[in-house]
Amino acid sequence: MDDCIGDCRTEIPVMLEVSNVIREGKGQTSFFFRHKLECKPGQFLMIWLPGVDEKPMAVSYSSKNEFAFTSQAIGKFTTALEKIRKGDKLGIRGPYGNSFSRKENACVVAGGVGLSSVSTLIDALKNPLIIYGARTKEHLIYLKRYKNKNMLITTDDGSFGRKGFTTDVLEEVLSKNKKIKIIYTCGPEIMMKKVFDICNKYKVELEASLERYMKCSFGICGACMIDDKIVCIDGPIFNSSQLNKLSEFGKYARLKTGRKVTLNEYHSWKD
Ligand SMILES: Cc1cc2nc3c(=O)[nH]c(=O)nc-3n(C[C@H](O)[C@H](O)[C@H](O)COP(=O)(O)OP(=O)(O)OC[C@H]3O[C@@H](n4cnc5c(N)ncnc54)[C@H](O)[C@@H]3O)c2cc1C
Ligand code: FES
Repeated sequence: MDDCIGDCRTEIPVMLEVSNVIREGKGQTSFFFRHKLECKPGQFLMIWLPGVDEKPMAVSYSSKNEFAFTSQAIGKFTTALEKIRKGDKLGIRGPYGNSFSRKENACVVAGGVGLSSVSTLIDALKNPLIIYGARTKEHLIYLKRYKNKNMLITTDDGSFGRKGFTTDVLEEVLSKNKKIKIIYTCGPEIMMKKVFDICNKYKVELEASLERYMKCSFGICGACMIDDKIVCIDGPIFNSSQLNKLSEFGKYARLKTGRKVTLNEYHSWKD
């Protein structure tokens, strides 16, 4: 049973023991598993907490015999995860979704816990420029992990790095640095929509990892639709030409019930 997650994708949750728990930032925790996982940068897992729920989480660390995901406590499921300790078990299925293209001369733009969805990509790239923002100093993650990387940090309140948004820095960088050929991004969709507009302005390629409400993660239920795309199968990563055709990107998402709502309503909704 255990070997299935290492050598093939599993559609049935495999109960794995948590080998380590690391507090990364305010309400942000990484859960490690001493286990092999074949996955590509940008792919995600479904995490099952029996009796609570099952939700998608990006693979945030991946090495030969270990992997992890990093969760931000925002609602019922992610708050319940905060009580999980080393030695407890979680159900894991996946990995799911497509992956980032891994081109050189890249810049990675991440907001909040979105850094976890691009972290295995950063590990796979040769010296990318990273533009990373969070609300406050307390919400920044992986500062030690990426201490030797080329990283520009912003906080909304100016408590660490530059005061402001990642998109302000991206615009400045692209206006001066013509060597950057591709932007990879993950974070709040409002940020990714601004990144998308800036990339269109400077004619730089973009790949963005989208977040939609997911139930099955293998294309059956239709919960994760954006326009005519099934995010769990066709995504979660979409490139510039695909994003240009998605009329709902940066505007609408669907609740658990399937009702289409504005992004503001989506993000204020609690399960
Ligand atoms: C492909 C993918 C990868 C993700 N990776 C991570 C990750 O690495 N770390 C992380 O902390 N979060 C990640 N998320 C988001 C995470 O799944 C949700 O934040 C989580 O499900 C919230 O559950 P909750 O019960 O704690 O909060 P809830 O009370 O259910 O929801 C709070 C808010 O989170 C959003 N949300 C809720 N459920 C989902 C869902 N199933 N899919 C997407 N958004 C949802 C809604 O905006 C909602 O308003 C990812 C989502 C997707 C689609
Ligand atoms: S989550 Fe069911 S189709 Fe994508």
